[in-house]
Amino acid sequence: MSILEVNNVTKIYKGRRGGAPLTAVKDFSFSVNGGEIVGFVGPNGAGKSTMLKMITGLAIPTSGSIAINGHDIAKERVKALSVVGTIIENPDMYLDWSGEANLKYLYSLQNMDEKDKYQRDSRIESVLKMVGMYDRRKDPIRTYSLGMKQRIGIAQALLAKPSLLILDEPTNGLDPEGIKEIRDILIHLASTYNMAILVSSHLLAEMQLMCNRFIIIDKGVKVSDMTAQEVGASAGPVMTLTTDNAALAVAILSEKFKITAKIVNGKVEFSSGVSSGEIMKELILSGVTVTELTTKKNSLEDVFISSTHGRSGGMNEVFPDLTEDRTSKTTDEEA
Ligand SMILES: Nc1ncnc2c1ncn2[C@@H]1O[C@H](COP(=O)(O)OP(=O)(O)O)[C@@H](O)[C@H]1O
Ligand SMILES: [Mg+2]
Repeated sequence: MSILEVNNVTKIYKGRRGGAPLTAVKDFSFSVNGGEIVGFVGPNGAGKSTMLKMITGLAIPTSGSIAINGHDIAKERVKALSVVGTIIENPDMYLDWSGEANLKYLYSLQNMDEKDKYQRDSRIESVLKMVGMYDRRKDPIRTYSLGMKQRIGIAQALLAKPSLLILDEPTNGLDPEGIKEIRDILIHLASTYNMAILVSSHLLAEMQLMCNRFIIIDKGVKVSDMTAQEVGASAGPVMTLTTDNAALAVAILSEKFKITAKIVNGKVEFSSGVSSGEIMKELILSGVTVTELTTKKNSLEDVFISSTHGRSGGMNEVFPDLTEDRTSKTTDEEA
């Protein structure tokens, strides 16, 4: 049984001030298992927050069902939500209080009848350590960077020992260092505690660094659900060859490797599972001068574009220029 099961969920918002109703999420199904870090990605307005709010009980599906640890949210709400930790909007914190004081306060709200201070303190110590904030625990929140605040937010979400962690755009506004820290924390939580983590973002490049599975949503509809390996392998690497004799190179690729290559702007382009080293060797033996052979790994962006057939709007915002990150000079590690 998966920790999270979403079955045919649709959410229709009533039109504001007599406007037309809006279908924010449409017939959406997926599940998440322990140990998985699932990226829930899509452009702004795609329906990510709406879905995460339904999973955390902050919004009610128009139809369909959601179960957490086998408990239906609509029928066994308290049981279902008891194992969910979440940061949906900016977490509530008292800025003049320390990170530790905020956690103590939240703990006391969650455990009203709990009198055991030792148990409280040891839980707070462990969540502070899990997010790497133990050394700064006594400092007021207002002295923290945005990334540190976000980490205290994660610590808050971890207090109740959740088996499902839901984070809505947790890396928004963070610098690369802050993003890396969040990423390392999530990877640690998933692998050490077998936690199931669902994290949304409109930034595909960030998600590709953090997650081992991706669910892509566009206009409320699921367009793809793939593991990181599947994303990498979905089209195979795309190779580009710069040479003085493109026509001969195309002929050799076809003859020796059964590769169908095409000439684009004087360069030879093709997809193949054959290693760049082997291709180079064969071309050189046949007298073709190779100036450069580059490989572009298939990215989430390619998956998104091919699964929406380029229909989606807002691409520039969703997909910052990733070319640098995705291009490697040689293919041998990839092959
Ligand atoms: N409370 C609401 N009432 C009406 N429409 C809403 C409400 N919340 C979100 N929407 C609309 O639903 C769509 C999806 O929004 P949202 O789930 O916030 O997307 P995302 O988080 O992917 O940016 C958008 O068109 C948004 O304007
Ligand atoms: Mg959102």
